[in-house]
Amino acid sequence: MFALTLAEGAELRPLEPWRAAEFAAHVDRVRADIRDYIPFAGTVVDEPAARRFLQAYADKQARDAARIYGIWVDGVLQGGTLFRTFDAGRGICEAGVWLAAEARGRGLVTAAVRHMIDWAFGERGLHRVEWLCDPRNTASAAVARRLGMTCEGLHRQAFTLDGERRDVQVWAVLAAEWPAGPASADS
Ligand SMILES: CC(C)(COP(=O)(O)OP(=O)(O)OC[C@H]1O[C@@H](n2cnc3c(N)ncnc32)[C@H](O)[C@@H]1OP(=O)(O)O)[C@@H](O)C(=O)NCCC(=O)NCCS
Repeated sequence: MFALTLAEGAELRPLEPWRAAEFAAHVDRVRADIRDYIPFAGTVVDEPAARRFLQAYADKQARDAARIYGIWVDGVLQGGTLFRTFDAGRGICEAGVWLAAEARGRGLVTAAVRHMIDWAFGERGLHRVEWLCDPRNTASAAVARRLGMTCEGLHRQAFTLDGERRDVQVWAVLAAEWPAGPASADS
């Protein structure tokens, strides 16, 4: 229905339940690329599971509590971004991302999340956007740094994935720190 151009051939679009088959095939294809850090890589194992996952996001979006978007490159779903949580009352949300290995290195998620943060601060009046990552995930931390976020510290063993208790590095940017960059002009 609508799309935001991120780079030549790359678009950000809402990722909705009717795309369950496409999302299931995508997760199957990129599972090995993202499974170390993305919990849904272990749970979205077929089309019904993909539909449940996307429907849960659609339900949360209806409550203004989360959102999910896909990134298509030359018409192929190659990754996405999300507001894993979105709390307008408290003025706080958390952004997250994933990409197929072949779509990395072009700045696609940085561009996408920049638009999302513009919207969260500029249109929704939020106060703080968070980014949580495993401290071993240097590619993810680099995105947070590229977005101008500050590393605020570490929650020790605060997250469990594949039976392993992991540390969580906390990054965030505040509305007062957010520059009116080029993405602001056309969002
Ligand atoms: C995290 C992840 C999405 C980062 O992907 P990415 O492509 O490196 O991120 P960006 O879109 O910000 O692109 C940055 C890269 O593009 C390059 N780039 C090219 N043009 C660019 C532009 N216009 N703007 C910004 N970066 C650009 C940067 O130099 C950088 O490359 P480098 O790492 O070789 O220096 C990816 O590593 C991933 O999917 N990992 C597995 C899932 C995951 O860990 N998700 C996060 C959980 S917290």
